[in-house]
Amino acid sequence: MAQEDIFKKLVAHCKEYGFVFQSSEIYDGLSAVYDYGQYGVELKNNIKKYWWDSMTLLHDNVVGIDSAIFMHPEIWKASGHVDAFNDPLIDNRDSKKRYRADVLIEEQLAKYEDKINKEVEKAAKRFGETFNEQQFRDTNQRVLETRRKWTALHERFAQAMNDMNLDELRQIILDEEIVCPISGTRNWTEVRQFNLMFSTEIGSTAEGASKIYLRPETAQGIFVNYLNVQKTGRMKIPFGIAQIGKAFRNEIVARQFIFRMREFEQMEMQFFVKPGTELQWFEKWRDARMKWHRALGFGDDNYRFHVHEKLAHYANAAVDVEYRFPFGFKEVEGIHSRTDFDLSQHQKHSGKKITYFDTETNESYVPYVVETSIGVDRMFLQVMAAAYCEEDVPSADGKSEQRVVLKIPPVLAPVKLAVLPLVKKDGLPEKAREIVDSLKFDFPCRYDEKDSVGKRYRRQDAIGTPFCLTVDHQTLDDNTVTVRNRDTMEQIRVPIAEVRGIIAAKTNFRELLEKLA
Ligand code: GAP
Repeated sequence: MAQEDIFKKLVAHCKEYGFVFQSSEIYDGLSAVYDYGQYGVELKNNIKKYWWDSMTLLHDNVVGIDSAIFMHPEIWKASGHVDAFNDPLIDNRDSKKRYRADVLIEEQLAKYEDKINKEVEKAAKRFGETFNEQQFRDTNQRVLETRRKWTALHERFAQAMNDMNLDELRQIILDEEIVCPISGTRNWTEVRQFNLMFSTEIGSTAEGASKIYLRPETAQGIFVNYLNVQKTGRMKIPFGIAQIGKAFRNEIVARQFIFRMREFEQMEMQFFVKPGTELQWFEKWRDARMKWHRALGFGDDNYRFHVHEKLAHYANAAVDVEYRFPFGFKEVEGIHSRTDFDLSQHQKHSGKKITYFDTETNESYVPYVVETSIGVDRMFLQVMAAAYCEEDVPSADGKSEQRVVLKIPPVLAPVKLAVLPLVKKDGLPEKAREIVDSLKFDFPCRYDEKDSVGKRYRRQDAIGTPFCLTVDHQTLDDNTVTVRNRDTMEQIRVPIAEVRGIIAAKTNFRELLEKLA
């Protein structure tokens, strides 16, 4: 099945099974804003716990905070967001649709890449086993010509973005004959800068009110609390501050479901270090973060680093962790070496000293910062995309049927255990409820008695429940139950007294966190 179709199915599955709903759906929805349903919120909380514990439990020099969404407006001037947190936008006059000019050009680059890949695929089929891909890429005229166009466009685009030359971006769109996907025309407006921050007013009267912003990143809440935490926690450099919270961006290109949202959640950690040591720490955190992703077991090859060639003016290194989504490798997390830019700016704009006195060297300095920044929602989408499987399995009548199963790592699964009485009589429901009542203190359990056991298994597979426990007539005689494994579908018969230990061993965070130590 084409990857695009799989993605469509995944989006439908998220809605059908209570993971993610379009916000304000009964009012026809609010674009690029989503709500999490009964299972979605559990998965999201588990992702956040994995991140939070990996930061604050495993590092005794990383502590957490929870800062407010509203902050003093001057903070966003100091951070550069008022002046430079912009997207270059262009409108098509015929369709009246608005696009990000840089995204239109990136899509054009991707088209050239696709063209090359198709040529390679065609040739591979034609030549069979004797096919030498590298030789073909290096010598085929059509491939070379397309590669030349790609390189020329890439260079021109990089230069225009570097200079933020809006006229040049428009000229590229015209020269490449890029058309609006809706109207099919090239009737483009000028390119304009558009600030991504949402603003509102604080204060009760129109005269007394002043403009403030919804934070576009959680990081600034950490920077402005750096000294509070350092002093009250008697923290010594190097140390980190972690935070999970909402962020808001007025994204124009809001596509791919929860990949790019207007209201989303970030998990950010700023690590404060001595100037000159930042690149060592950058490498440490880069590797630690990749380990965190890979520990979930979705396949090492599905992750890669994307090193930023063009760095923000305040950064001296930056890399993204990318995951192979059904729509290609895309960023899940960024690791950035931000120098002393943010703290120095806040020192300048607030007029308050934000230096650190290093008792080991007897010197004062503004610390440098290495940041790790990951979107909770994007991580959620990554887990769902990796976990979604359609499988042919044997059916009750000896034939085969298809099941949709979410192979979510058990530790992250919204429900850990479903308890199913075989029939709705003979005292089996009572026994099953007794088991739920004793295990509900340990992990999320669900009781389900509706429909055949087979259908109930499918329902639990579809929400990723790793274990189903069936109570049958034998249970009443000898206090044993069957425990079914979601992935292997194998069933084992065990005493009820052992169930807690079996499930706990497979669903606790300790095992996962130990992989990171
Ligand atoms: N403090 C640095 C910072 O905010 P960023 O690359 O703009 O860096 C970090 O964002 C992460 O936040 C991204 O890697 C992504 O996971 C997530 N993110 C950013 N914009 C998002 C959006 N509109 N919707 C969902 N997640 C987003």
